Order: sequence, then C-alpha cells, then structure tokens
Amino acid sequence: MWLARRGWRVTGVDFSDVALRAARELAAASGVEIEWIEADAVTWVPPGRAYDLVTVMYLQLPAHERRAALAHAAAAVRPGGTLLVVGHDRLNLTEGSGGPTQADVLFTPDDVVAEIGDLAIEKSLRVRRPVDGGAAARDAIDALVRARRPAGA
Ligand SMILES: C[S@@+](CC[C@H](N)C(=O)[O-])C[C@H]1O[C@@H](n2cnc3c(N)ncnc32)[C@H](O)[C@@H]1O
Repeated sequence: MWLARRGWRVTGVDFSDVALRAARELAAASGVEIEWIEADAVTWVPPGRAYDLVTVMYLQLPAHERRAALAHAAAAVRPGGTLLVVGHDRLNLTEGSGGPTQADVLFTPDDVVAEIGDLAIEKSLRVRRPVDGGAAARDAIDALVRARRPAGA
C-alpha cells in the first residue's frame, strides 16, 4: 500500500483469502490499484528477473519452507533491482516483543543472507521497532536484509 501510494506498480501475494480481502478493501479506501495474487509463497514461482523490488514482509515459515520462498523471491529480482526481507528475528523470542512464539519460524539476517543466492548484500542487521504498550514495553526485534542483483547479472 505504501509503495502504491508513491506511484509504484505493485503486485501483492498472500495465500489467505481473508488477508487479501482486507488488503483489497484497504487499497480501495486508499484509492490505489494493486494486483493481488492468492498463492503459497513456498510453491508459487513468480516471473524470473522481472521486478524492480521484491519485498518479503513478516513471512514466518519453518526453515525449509522459508528457503524455498526466499529463493523464489530472489530469483524474481531483475538486474539492478532490490530484494528487501523484514521479519521477526529469532532474538525477538527472548528479548523482544510480540511476534510468533515458535522458534522454528523465526530467523536471523544471516539465515536470509545464506538463502538468497548471489545477490549483493547491502544491509544485513537486526533492527529494533518500538511497539505501543507504555514505557515498560520492550522494542520488537526484526531481521532486515536488503540486497541487490547487480546490473547485468
Ligand atoms: C504477519 S502477516 C504479514 C502481512 C504483510 N506481509 C505485512 O507485512 O503487513 C503474515 C502473512 O503471511 C501470510 N502467509 C503465511 N504463510 C504464507 C505462505 N506460505 N504463502 C503466502 N502467504 C503466507 C499470512 O496469510 C499473513 O497474511
């Protein structure tokens, strides 16, 4: 939604019809047009080397499924394009706030770096995200990786 409001042509993917219905309503209320695809990110193969930017946001999957989804996401980045992965970091379980409570769906920036093939890593770090909940609330801890497919690669 954020990208579409800024003029990007956006395709959104989720396997939940409930999530997509909510997203469609939000897009309509925001006056933006987005292509929605109902698909399982583990098995769905997007067009190869086709997108300027591929974002994977808070997709918390067991490692073998995450590997498949990230490989598909990375392969969809065009030469010169960017992959941005953000999700709940493994450290969030013990030192953070919110997010899944099953350790096996949490990951680290290093996990992502190892799973996105030959893209050039521009950022790979843990980021703290303030959450509502008063002064006593702990920040959430996210894993963030930004990578680029070199032009011509
Ligand atoms: C925490 S929500 C994040 C939603 C959105 N990406 C965002 O950042 O606001 C996780 C979403 O991942 C979707 N999801 C989980 N497993 C998936 C899969 N294998 N394929 C596609 N979507 C999946 C869920 O339906 C849910 O909408």
